Amino acid sequence: MTPAHLLEIETQAKAEAAAADSPLAIRGMTVFYDQKPAVFSVDATFQPGRMTAIIGPNGAGKSTLLKAALGIVTPLAGKATIFGAPLSERRDRLAYVPQRASVDWDFPARVADVVAMGLYPKLGLLGRFTGAHRAKVKHCLARVGMEDFAHRQIGQLSGGQQQRVFLARALAQEADLYLLDEPFAGVDAATERAIIDVLKELKSEGKTVIAVHHDLSTVPEYFDDVLILNVRKVSEGSVAEAFTHEALDAAYGGRLDLAGTAALPVSA
Ligand SMILES: Nc1ncnc2c1ncn2[C@@H]1O[C@H](COP(=O)(O)OP(=O)(O)OP(=O)(O)O)[C@@H](O)[C@H]1O
Ligand SMILES: [Mg+2]
Repeated sequence: MTPAHLLEIETQAKAEAAAADSPLAIRGMTVFYDQKPAVFSVDATFQPGRMTAIIGPNGAGKSTLLKAALGIVTPLAGKATIFGAPLSERRDRLAYVPQRASVDWDFPARVADVVAMGLYPKLGLLGRFTGAHRAKVKHCLARVGMEDFAHRQIGQLSGGQQQRVFLARALAQEADLYLLDEPFAGVDAATERAIIDVLKELKSEGKTVIAVHHDLSTVPEYFDDVLILNVRKVSEGSVAEAFTHEALDAAYGGRLDLAGTAALPVSA
């Protein structure tokens, strides 16, 4: 065996060890829609107990990458592991809040019912919904400041209020990994603050948060790590290392107004 072979084996072993420790590890993920690649050969290893932003222009494949990792769309190639195992063995450890536009808001359910859905996976088919469960729903709604809306139909809430309720449902799941697709889209400053406070609280409890995010100016304040995407991976790592002008330029193709990101580190 040549030194090159040994190095390759060692690199592979390291990558596998990193994947086993990672709340979400994605390898060679490739998704095509109508013969066009939406995500191409993406590897990403998300770090435990940290908050990671997935950023990139519209159509970059951010939502698709999450959906492929969650088995909502079928990739052409690639795989994802959750805490070192396939999704089917780890479903109870993750909570997903989809992009708002993809949710049917005419669905006839009250706010409390929507949050209670977060409890069902652990309750099982025959489990009884008890007073303790009701208290849990109330507590999760209180955490996002929506306790007064428990009996309202979900379709009769504003967009920001709906977003808070879906976060409450994710909280009810008591997951270890939270995947959120644009949790701040279309919400006002107060709701954004409320949501980021809850996410930071989750992080302080040791949970991992991964969120698709559009506002580049808040990336350094809100997140520890970034994954920058434009069909392919552009960069990955801590905000200090990976969130650079160069990487953003590569991802956004010079279409970006960098005025709001003046504080960015400039890579050499
Ligand atoms: N179900 C689908 N069928 C065909 N093409 C799709 C489908 N879903 C997404 N696409 C296309 O795949 C590409 C990636 O879409 P995706 O929704 O993953 O992007 P995104 O990065 O989340 O964008 P945004 O910032 O607008 O949410 C886009 O070009 C989109 O038009
Ligand atoms: Mg999207």
